[in-house]
This record gives sequence, structure tokens and C-alpha cells, in this order.
Amino acid sequence: MHKKWWHGKIAYQIYPKSFKDTNHDGIGDIRGIIEKLPYLKLLGIEILWISPVYVSPFVDQGYDIADYEHIDPIFGTDEDFDELIAKAKELGIHIIMDLVVNHCSSEHIWFKKALADKNSEYRDYFYFRKGNEDGTPPDNLRSYFGGSVWEKVKGEDNTYYLHYFAKEQPDLNWYNPKVREEIYAMMNRWLLRGISGFRVDAIMNIEKDLSFPGLEPDSDDGMCASAKMAHKLSSKIGHFLSEMKERTIDRYDAFSVGEAFGVDTSLYGQFIGDKGYFETIFDFKPRELVEKSVLVFKRRPVTFTMFRDATAKSQHSANNTGFLAPVMENHDEPRGISYYIPQMWENEQGAKAFGTYLLLLRGIPFIYQGQELGLKNPVFDSIDEIDDLATHDMYRSCLKYDLDKSLALKLCAHETRDNARVPMPWDDSEYAGFSDVSPWLKTYSFKDTLNVKAQLSDENSTFNYYRKLISLRKDEKYSQCLTYGDFIDDSTEDLTSAYFRVTENMRILVLTNLKDSSYCYRLKDGESNTLSLLLESKKNCVSTFGNEITLEKGCSAVFLIGK
Ligand code: NOJ
Ligand code: CA
Repeated sequence: MHKKWWHGKIAYQIYPKSFKDTNHDGIGDIRGIIEKLPYLKLLGIEILWISPVYVSPFVDQGYDIADYEHIDPIFGTDEDFDELIAKAKELGIHIIMDLVVNHCSSEHIWFKKALADKNSEYRDYFYFRKGNEDGTPPDNLRSYFGGSVWEKVKGEDNTYYLHYFAKEQPDLNWYNPKVREEIYAMMNRWLLRGISGFRVDAIMNIEKDLSFPGLEPDSDDGMCASAKMAHKLSSKIGHFLSEMKERTIDRYDAFSVGEAFGVDTSLYGQFIGDKGYFETIFDFKPRELVEKSVLVFKRRPVTFTMFRDATAKSQHSANNTGFLAPVMENHDEPRGISYYIPQMWENEQGAKAFGTYLLLLRGIPFIYQGQELGLKNPVFDSIDEIDDLATHDMYRSCLKYDLDKSLALKLCAHETRDNARVPMPWDDSEYAGFSDVSPWLKTYSFKDTLNVKAQLSDENSTFNYYRKLISLRKDEKYSQCLTYGDFIDDSTEDLTSAYFRVTENMRILVLTNLKDSSYCYRLKDGESNTLSLLLESKKNCVSTFGNEITLEKGCSAVFLIGK
């Protein structure tokens, strides 16, 4: 594998609306990010992914872009953004933008022109199609946010346009070379402006079967999730992705991380590594175990054991191809410690142990804002406290199936994307130091105990433990092994994990125990003679006797084997 500038770095995701408000409107902004750069530097972050800050009507929180070239005034000005790039650079932090090009906003000038004139060249920037003769839309795919992916064009006879997400997010036609040229030129302008790359949104959806055949229904609404179509077409998408890489990323030695759901591990060689379409892709294999249906009551919990096994399979497949980007959570997910590990560990201990497990995997870990504080899901007392359109769709579906309102709320609250979107708790004041006015989304429920200020001054806090983990990853002595070393799984017991990171001359062992009792790991003969403890998530949680390592419940530990 060729060495790249981003290897060995730790990335962090900011959801700007909820990070830090500086102009008293209850909405996070770019000056807020600038203000908190030293905090990120202290944590050890070197790559910063910022969720969309472009001009947008915010139907889907900025993932509906009306102008790719400019910053939305709610976040600040174009000059603020340039200042952010420059100040981050001074601190050795690379900024990466969100690239949302499967779709734009229905307020984008391209779409407005396409609607205004059937003969406009912009018509072919999107997918406009005639419906079937019986008046049904061209196919039966269900949008990610519920309902058909086809929206009828007002004032036109039996004509629809395609939107895999909200109807205000029309899909861009990648088969039109002009669209691709526009996208590449836009990306290159941003790269020239000083950003270091992109997180590439919803990208597996750009490939389409132009005959729009639809799929077998997966539920009694007669529709099928569009994710299934994206998955079906995933081996055909290469022609677009390699062109995009060649025309943009490669030319600037830039970084790209694909939001590439549904890529089989057998395809990793095409997606990541020296010949990959992306520098890396998020490892969503554990998340893919969650039932896709909007009917949340059908979802079964994904246990830590399931998470671990899916991750191990993914990691093994990537050993010889490239780097994955392990994630615990992001702005589309509930908090990881409230979702993937036993409820008894939905606390500081669980946050440290799960964090250790994830941050020492092979690849480039992404930390989502607040994860470093061990944030768990907030409490939602009413559906009205939730803003996310996807959750409202879930809630409506529950009610349609006659679920009791309080049960519907409980289920939806567990799943909602707003779990991760409530404002970052900087201190324990009324609005958690995020803003001095009531924020756009409710203040974090557990700010009194879980906040940055408290954790900075407590040497045993989750924040300070994350700092130790990151320092270990970057420690000159171990960074070669923790960056490039193979991942080898040696897990056997439920709710525990044992894996090695291995290079020719170093072996590092990472143990995690999320059971309700201690975990005993047996070393191979001779290994105990050269065993040394590098890090433990709780003081004195490890004891060794002969070939046995005993790890207390709710803990993780990291060992060097050999000199
Ligand atoms: C994935 C993004 O992460 C999510 O927030 C958004 O709703 C969809 N893509 C559509 O852009
Ligand atoms: Ca603001």
C-alpha cells in the first residue's frame, strides 16, 4: 500500500448546526467551529469532516443543497469558512467537506430551470419520466424517507421526477456528462480553496437502472427500499466513481471517505486502497445488520457480539486491500453506547471500553462530536421535540399499525437521528454552553454530568481517556503497528472481543469485556513472558497469572506482546 498523508490520523465529525453558536441565534455556526479548534487539537484530531454548510432550505438539514459554491448565512459567510480553513491549517487540522451529489435541493437553480421549461437543457440534469398508463409511478421503489421515490410534476401530464430521499432532494442524472463535469469542477474549486477532501454522501445511489424496473415488494405497501436497488447495482458503479477520483481527488492528493452502504466485503479491492474509488469508506457492516424497514418495531437489537463479528469480517477483508473508517455513530445514528452494547454499560465505563475497541481497529477512525465525552442518547418526552423528518415518518408508520403513542415514541426515540443532533454540551449552564438562547433542538438531557468543562478538569474523564487512546495510536513506538498492522481476530466469547494488530516485529493485543462478569483470556505459550500493559480503560482492571489475563467487567485493556 502506498503511504498517504492521512494515514495514521484520527478524524472527527462536526454537525455544525449543533456544535457551537456564537451569534446568539441558537444555531451552531462556523465561528463556533473556529472557536473550538483548540479543543479538537487538544483531543488529537487532524482531520475534520464538517457536515453540509452550503446554502440550503434545510428540508434535510443541509443535505439538500441549493448552491454548492457558497456558505449558508445561518452558518456565517464565505470569508468565515476561508478563515476556518486557514486557522485549522495552522493547527495541523485538515478540513474535509460533505459532498452531496446524488441529489441537490429542489431550490437549486438547475432544478428550477428544469421545472420551468420542459425543453431546458437542465431537464436532463435530473430523471424526469412518464408514469405508467394506469397512473402509477414508473417504479415501486420507496424513498429513504418514506413514500414513492417518484413525485408528480405539477401542471404536467403523468410526469414524475425521481428523488431517493425527500421530494425536495431531486436525484442528479450522473448519466449526463454535463452533470458530471459540473460536479468535478465544483469539487476542484473547493480543493483549490484549501480543503483536503470530501466525505461523499449517499454515493451508492448514483448508479441507476435506466429501465427503472423496480423490485419485489418488501412490505405490504407494495414498495421496496431503494437501498436494495443501490445494493443490487453496487458492482456496476465503478465507471462513475473511478472517473470522479481521477478528475478530482487524484489531482490534488486529496482524501475521500465514501458513505458507501451495502458494499460486499469481496468488493473492497475496488473501493479502497491504492486502486480504490475512494481513499477509504466507512465501515457500516454492523449498521447494515439493522432491519432497514421504516417499521421500527420490526427491528431487533444489534448486540456487541454481532457488531464485533461483522467488524472482524470487514477488517479481515480489508487487511490486504486498504483502510476502512471505523465508526461508532454519526449524525444519522443513535449514540453507539445506547445502541450496540448492553444497557448496563451505557455509561462512562462502556464509553471507554467501546471506544478502545473501535479506535484501535485498523483504518482511519472517525469520532462523532460528543462521542469523546461518552454521550448517551438524550431523553425525548414528546414527538414534537424531534425535528428529523425520517423519524416523523417512522412515527406515522407506527401509528398506522395501531401502536400505542407512548410505545411509538419510545421506539422512535431509540432510533432517531436527533439522538446525535442535539447540541453539544460544553458546560452545565441552561443551554449547555452551546448558546445563550434556547437552541434549535432541545438541550442535551444529561448536561449536568456529561459536559466538556467537567471532563477537561477530570483526569479520569472519558475525554481524557480518548486523548490517551489517540496518543497511543500516534506514539512513535506503536504507530507503525497501530496504523498498518494487520487485524487478527481472536474473539470466542459472547460480549467480549480479543484482537491483535500485527506487523513483522510487533504484536499488540486489544481486549474488551462487555459482559456482566470478568473475562479470562488465555495467551499462547511463551507470550506471557514478554507481555506488557500499554493502557487500561479503568485503573487496575487487569490481572495476569501464568498464561491468563483476567479483565474486569465493562473494561478494555491494550497489551504489547514482545519487545
Ligand atoms: C446521508 C446523510 O448522512 C443523511 O443525513 C442524509 O439525510 C442523506 N444522506 C441524504 O443526503
Ligand atoms: Ca449561530
